[in-house]
Amino acid sequence: MTLPPRDPLPSLIPESAPFSAEQRVWLNGLFAGLLSLEDGITPLSLEQAAALLPGALDLATPATGEDDGAPWHDPAMALADRMKLAEGRPLRRRMMAAMGQQDCGQCGYNCQDYSDAIVLQKEERLNLCVPGGKETTRMLKALHQELGKGPGSAETPSKTLTPAAVTAAPAAAPGCSRECPTAARFLSRKRLNKAGSEKETWHIEFDLTATGIDYAVGDAFGVFPTNDPALADAVIAALAAPRDFPIGGRALRDVLVDGVSLGAAPDMLFQLFSYITGGERRQKAKALAAGEDPDGDAATLDVLAAIKKFSGVRPDPEAFIEALDPLQPRLYSIACSPRVDRRRMALCVDAVRYPINGRTRLGVASTFLGERVRSGDTVNVFVQKAQHFGLPADPSVPIIMIGPGTGIAPFRAFLHERMASKAPGRNWLFFGHQRRDYDFFYEDELAGLKAAGTLTRLSLAWSRDGAEKFYVQDRMREVGRELWAWLADGAHVYVCGDAKRMARDVEAAWVEIVAAHGARTTDEAIAFVANLKKSGRYQQDVY
Ligand SMILES: Cc1cc2nc3c(=O)[nH]c(=O)nc-3n(C[C@H](O)[C@H](O)[C@H](O)COP(=O)(O)OP(=O)(O)OC[C@H]3O[C@@H](n4cnc5c(N)ncnc54)[C@H](O)[C@@H]3O)c2cc1C
Ligand SMILES: NC(=O)c1ccc[n+]([C@@H]2O[C@H](COP(=O)([O-])OP(=O)(O)OC[C@H]3O[C@@H](n4cnc5c(N)ncnc54)[C@H](OP(=O)(O)O)[C@@H]3O)[C@@H](O)[C@H]2O)c1
Repeated sequence: MTLPPRDPLPSLIPESAPFSAEQRVWLNGLFAGLLSLEDGITPLSLEQAAALLPGALDLATPATGEDDGAPWHDPAMALADRMKLAEGRPLRRRMMAAMGQQDCGQCGYNCQDYSDAIVLQKEERLNLCVPGGKETTRMLKALHQELGKGPGSAETPSKTLTPAAVTAAPAAAPGCSRECPTAARFLSRKRLNKAGSEKETWHIEFDLTATGIDYAVGDAFGVFPTNDPALADAVIAALAAPRDFPIGGRALRDVLVDGVSLGAAPDMLFQLFSYITGGERRQKAKALAAGEDPDGDAATLDVLAAIKKFSGVRPDPEAFIEALDPLQPRLYSIACSPRVDRRRMALCVDAVRYPINGRTRLGVASTFLGERVRSGDTVNVFVQKAQHFGLPADPSVPIIMIGPGTGIAPFRAFLHERMASKAPGRNWLFFGHQRRDYDFFYEDELAGLKAAGTLTRLSLAWSRDGAEKFYVQDRMREVGRELWAWLADGAHVYVCGDAKRMARDVEAAWVEIVAAHGARTTDEAIAFVANLKKSGRYQQDVY
């Protein structure tokens, strides 16, 4: 029997508190009793919780060990909150908390293994975390100072690094890791939005024939992009350096195009400027290198803007290149199934472009794929095996896929795979985007999959068609009873797309649905969803 919907009870335990779902339920109950809980009460601070129940925090936060639950391992959590949760832990755990928490593999590791490799001194580079960006690099540098100093700093990971799982070391087969990429031929791009859309999203295809690459649905595809040559030229002009200045046997311009990141100016660049300029400008460069923001413009300073800010400073081109971060590969969810054609690779890429101070800034990889690479060009690529994202082993298990925007990519692959393998399991897709008339990706194809019976249900949400925003989770709430019935039938849930807002809001909607239709309190529903995750029935590919 299902219960009617009701207002969720407030949770007393702060989101950031390092408790498991079960501990959260138990503590909420306890504190509610102690405080005679009424609607509207605000969550306790960690300190209040600890004061009410001394020892509760200790229960949930063992000082060391592999099984501390890594409560900071949430890509939607801010760095400061993650570091707070890791306070008092061994250095390698705090280093892990400093990572972007996406386990995306763009650095060649997952978050835990990258931090372990740094502590084991097997990895010297502290600037590899793409999602974490500058703030992660800065935090890692600060933590790195502790390495080899004081008690507790020498603790080593109890397990050995496992390259097979995390690609920490070069894999044997080309294209199996970022350390060992292979060259694939770029085939085509086709815009997925119709003219008039505010978005620019591309269906991208590569030819894998010559690569020997093997992949599965759920995996991601790593692409080594090159910078916009016009940006490299603008940097050269701003430096007043010769474009063929030799850098390690290559011309400066070539290194600027394919070797270094021209995105956010790294602290090292400001440090370099501080050495070769004087007075107030030197103080500003030093402040920027220390992560301060003397003029309130730090967030707008890419490499070119930084050179212009310190115009007239002429660093040696070699020292300049050394001060920049390496150009990193980017990952894209694979949008096709090898069962359909293993020589093809398809991606769904949203081109990042945004104006700052009159100059359009370009996302390096998304505009490389969406604009610069030409049909027939070869591109260095690799497959990043998914760690916890893939179809259920049993093809009869129903699946529910929630993928607004580019989040549709892996679900196109899932649907193709299930169609090609004649999997009997039911498939329900939630897709959404800004406007139905312009942003309905793969509309004809989805209609075909529906007609063929592969796509059992398609639920759509257009955020900008009405007077008010309407998102996939709003559509989910409307059909909550049926979603609950699918869950009761053992359905697996998948979420793909934006990590910062969408994934959180979708999870909150699941909690409401489970509470409303599964006859559970909010806390029981939270524990239910947490258990779905733990058992692998709720998987996310979010970025
Ligand atoms: C596992 C995984 C799967 C992914 N799958 C996909 C996918 O299927 N499709 C897809 O499109 N992407 C996907 N991504 C994201 C993708 O990897 C890239 O992060 C994305 O394409 C941007 O990379 P870029 O090089 O173009 O931009 P970058 O050069 O990295 O620039 C992006 C940076 O620009 C800044 N920025 C962006 N917009 C603004 C703005 N409006 N104002 C100010 N600053 C801004 C932000 O700092 C942002 O981090 C995935 C990521 C992961 C980890
Ligand atoms: N690192 C990068 O630079 C980079 C590059 C590309 C994408 N991304 C991330 O990836 C995400 C995916 O981009 P995308 O082009 O696929 O689409 P998107 O920008 O996420 O938009 C897809 C749909 O999701 C809606 N949406 C916005 N907030 C939501 C929420 N809280 N819950 C549910 N839906 C919500 C959007 O509505 P409205 O827009 O109308 O609100 C839109 O209809 C981006 O949001 C961004 O965070 C990052």
